[in-house]
Amino acid sequence: MKLVVLVALFGLSLAQHNPHIKHGRTSIVHLFEWRWADIAEECERFLGPNGFGGVQISPPNEHILKESPWRPWWQRYQPISYKLCSRSGSEDELRDMITRCNNVGVNVYVDAVINHMARGDGGEGTHSSCGSWFSVYTQDFPSVPYSSLDFNDNKCYTASGNIENYSDPNQVRDCRLDRLLDLALEKDYVRGKVADYMNNLIDMGVAGFRVDACKHMWPGDLDIVFGSLKNLNTMWFASGSRPFIFQEVIDLGGEPISSKEYYHLGRVTEFKYGAKLGTVFRKWNGEKLSYTKNWGEGWGFMPDGNALVFIDNHDNQRGHGAGGASIISFWDARLHKMAVGYMLAHPYGQTRVMSSYKWDRNFVDGKDQNDWIGPPSNSDGSTKPVPINPDQTCGDGWVCEHRWRQIKNMVTFRNVVNGQPQANWWDNQSNQVAFGRGDRGFIIFNNDDWDLDVTLNTGMPAGTYCDVISGQKEGGGCTGKKIQVGSDGRAHFSISNREEDPFVAIHAESKL
Ligand SMILES: *[C@@H]1O[C@H](CO)[C@@H](O)[C@H](O)[C@H]1NC(C)=O
Ligand SMILES: *[C@@H]1O[C@H](CO)[C@@H](O)[C@H](O)[C@H]1NC(C)=O
Repeated sequence: MKLVVLVALFGLSLAQHNPHIKHGRTSIVHLFEWRWADIAEECERFLGPNGFGGVQISPPNEHILKESPWRPWWQRYQPISYKLCSRSGSEDELRDMITRCNNVGVNVYVDAVINHMARGDGGEGTHSSCGSWFSVYTQDFPSVPYSSLDFNDNKCYTASGNIENYSDPNQVRDCRLDRLLDLALEKDYVRGKVADYMNNLIDMGVAGFRVDACKHMWPGDLDIVFGSLKNLNTMWFASGSRPFIFQEVIDLGGEPISSKEYYHLGRVTEFKYGAKLGTVFRKWNGEKLSYTKNWGEGWGFMPDGNALVFIDNHDNQRGHGAGGASIISFWDARLHKMAVGYMLAHPYGQTRVMSSYKWDRNFVDGKDQNDWIGPPSNSDGSTKPVPINPDQTCGDGWVCEHRWRQIKNMVTFRNVVNGQPQANWWDNQSNQVAFGRGDRGFIIFNNDDWDLDVTLNTGMPAGTYCDVISGQKEGGGCTGKKIQVGSDGRAHFSISNREEDPFVAIHAESKL
């Protein structure tokens, strides 16, 4: 009997690797710090029409409001309760967004902060996004409610109460991550509160969760929490669909805790992906693009079916978390477009595109003193809406990488080649590489300091194709380069190293 239950639970959690993306779409975008009202509009006017499969949203639960520094982005990683009013909007606005995104086939994934509550320096009072009273001194969060009995301090043996030694898994799981009050997920009561929060969101129609700080929670505790989640709302998802889980585990090697411990629970963020591809495109450490011929598991990454991949995220684009200086964000726009293009063309992993806001960087001794700055805001701290310019870019400091033509078109490329194997690899033993996806798409990069001029087998049917990087197909014509594929599948490519975007991509639906 016990065995049967165990097998059933294991079977359920294995199902949580499926993002339930609809209509043959393949990619997720993280609209970091966007307001719910803007995300609802974006689903309808842009994400749905352009083939994005889902959106990762910032934490929707009640969080602390910090005054010093003034309203940092990371205040949302300091929960006060599981009430659904946050810097991004009210519960009604959240519900409206989830409904409207689902109605245009765009899934919503919630950033779930369940490892901890506010930080030990958070004080006491009602400086929280729904106005709930709390005290970090007595560890009292009456709006959940959590009391001091629901935290891990009795299990942590470091002098400071914080994690001091990442080589000690007990500390990493039971002590405070940078002073954040560490929830006792071994307790049924705490598991129940966390599951109620997540189930409430499932009822509202979300498709799954990005789970924050999973390295800092025991896999066994997470197994029970994830196992007690409901199936997805059948208004939008097939009956019996399990919520998609992708876990933030920063594993660059060198620590006793590894991503592997979390594979059976859901997907895991593959931080090696952006760190390594950044090194390759920057040509650091003697790396060359030609070395990516066996990109993916061949580079020591986790199994394909476990990986959630990205070039940068909200942490490492500002020096937080992991990856280091090699991470390529929108600040290095030319390289960013190429790296995102490579990721979206390559079959490995579940892809996530980053969508950022700008902030004033201020480097002192290599560290950005302004890495805390929150989203574009009004003087009262409220987040500004995302205005859309006539040329479809965003204003007011919102970067909207996902709207950049090259990235938007590569999201479509990935959809068009979905399920096709990587094929027809070519490289010049340096930084010029090309590969196809079956007979549905082909991409070629020139990241060398000299021109590229080659004729290659694309594996594609004969015809004239529109390059979706320098332009795109518009009303039967092409606003970019035209690529002629002969009846033998071969095509000539010429890419100067001085071009704005030194890569070319064609696919079955860019055929003229
Ligand atoms: C960190 O923890 C590991 C594993 O328990 C231990 O071997 C090591 O000595 C510790 N390091 C320090 C500096 O305490
Ligand atoms: C890279 O390819 C170009 C032709 O596209 C060639 O001129 C160049 O010599 C190649 N570099 C190496 C190292 O093979």
